[in-house]
Amino acid sequence: MFLDTANIEEIKAAYSLGVISGVTTNPSLLAKEGKSLDAAIREITAVVDGPISVEAVSQEAPAIIAEAEKLASFHPNIVVKIPVNAEGLKAVKVLSERKVKTNVTLVFSVNQALLAALAGATYVSPFVGRLDDIGQDGMQLVAEMLEIYRNYSFPTQVIAASIRHPLHVAIAAKIGADIATIPYKVLTQMLNHPLTTLGIEKFLADWAKVSDAS
Ligand code: G3P
Repeated sequence: MFLDTANIEEIKAAYSLGVISGVTTNPSLLAKEGKSLDAAIREITAVVDGPISVEAVSQEAPAIIAEAEKLASFHPNIVVKIPVNAEGLKAVKVLSERKVKTNVTLVFSVNQALLAALAGATYVSPFVGRLDDIGQDGMQLVAEMLEIYRNYSFPTQVIAASIRHPLHVAIAAKIGADIATIPYKVLTQMLNHPLTTLGIEKFLADWAKVSDAS
């Protein structure tokens, strides 16, 4: 499970639970933090010992490649997010040959996912919630991608992204997504259950009676 945020306090809190093995960011998430890219990457890499996705914003393949190599030079754990389009695919192909890890993002169809794997993407991120938002079944895309990647033994890993609620995480795990990247709020929702909270309160109240009696 990865955390989908650029907020360092959320990353510290989530990472301390011991269940998060990477972080994904995007330009929107980074913009919310109001920090320089260097500062944000420095903070995150200091906390998380695992893949950290940072998106390239260049539009032409040569510029994407140059930007990706610069991002990758910041830290060995950096994975470069690249949107799936013609220029992005060309860049992913070159970067995979140069051993720069990539996360092909904004994936909304199995055909885009197939092309990304053929180009040599390390990870591919289908945006489940954004498909659900337009009345399609985002998790069905994840399932079909997994089937295709397994048919051909692609090493590309599927990151279920744009996760909006705990049910998304549960289904992603059930169908065998390699990774789900989740907002901090969803991590909290996964952990908390009113019956657990009530149960602890009741046990503590009853235990206080036992202690009083002794
Ligand atoms: O980081 C990419 C993705 O997870 C964004 O999610 O909620 O903005 O669709 P969302």
